[in-house]
Amino acid sequence: MSNNLLAGKVGIISGALDERSIAWKVALKAHEQGARFVLTNAPLAMRLGEINGLAEQCGATIIPADATSMEDLEKLFSGAQEQLGGKLDFVLHSIGMSNNIRKGKAYGDLNYEWFQKTIDVSAMSLHKMLAVAEKQDAFNEWGSVVALSYIAAQRAFLDYTDMTQAKAMLESIARSYGQRLGKLKKVRVNTLSQSPTKTSAGTGISGFDAFYDFADKMSPLGNAPAEACADFCIALFSDLTRYVTMQNLMHDGGFSTTGISQEMADLMVKANS
Ligand code: NAI
Repeated sequence: MSNNLLAGKVGIISGALDERSIAWKVALKAHEQGARFVLTNAPLAMRLGEINGLAEQCGATIIPADATSMEDLEKLFSGAQEQLGGKLDFVLHSIGMSNNIRKGKAYGDLNYEWFQKTIDVSAMSLHKMLAVAEKQDAFNEWGSVVALSYIAAQRAFLDYTDMTQAKAMLESIARSYGQRLGKLKKVRVNTLSQSPTKTSAGTGISGFDAFYDFADKMSPLGNAPAEACADFCIALFSDLTRYVTMQNLMHDGGFSTTGISQEMADLMVKANS
């Protein structure tokens, strides 16, 4: 159902790889709510071609960009403003990648070149995007930036290896840049910390099914699905959240503030009997 929450707003949505991607759902909902936007992803991901169907559905243009490349990001932000006919109102950063996770490296045996790549792709890319946007004066006043994070930024989850540090840095960049862009352009910058979600990035983590079920059983509302995450992104892009900035917002069904749930307690009792 559309309330035209984003009518007249324009932006950039990164990270839609396939139908399971959180960014994919954000794009569909942003379109439904009246926004116009450019879709972007790494040139390599683009070759899979699925994003073309999404672009058609949303009437969006695609501008490929490796989020670690300043040159690509400069073309992305200038190209988006050209395509959309003016400055931007929203940006979704939905980008994460760790070769250490992909190759199943243990936390004590990380490849440091990959570690640096993880930080560059998954965290520093947010800084690069915002630095390019600032230099191009690409935002309208009261714009909104959302980057997707995970609770491993605050709590230890060993299988999340180097992405743990990347998410902590991502959240920190959102605070620092939120302060800067708030003063400069009244633009807000937040991270949204999402429940485990069955996407390409999510299911690449070893033991994902166990952590998905654990979080689901611990959360009074259950794990937040990708569609609900997209709804929250839309709310954060809309004018209804104009004074929310520099926050890490939990979107996790109550997981982060639960000690133990009845389901988990029952399982422990069963295991011990
Ligand atoms: P996804 O795999 O669909 O999306 C990740 C995206 O990052 C892909 O589209 C990929 O092509 C893009 N990407 C990778 N390297 C890139 C680069 N160099 N330049 C530009 N784009 C690049 O998976 P998902 O789950 O939708 O991930 C989106 C965000 O949500 C990520 O930041 C992820 O860490 C975060 N998140 C995911 C959770 C999950 O359980 N799936 C939980 C909490 C946060």
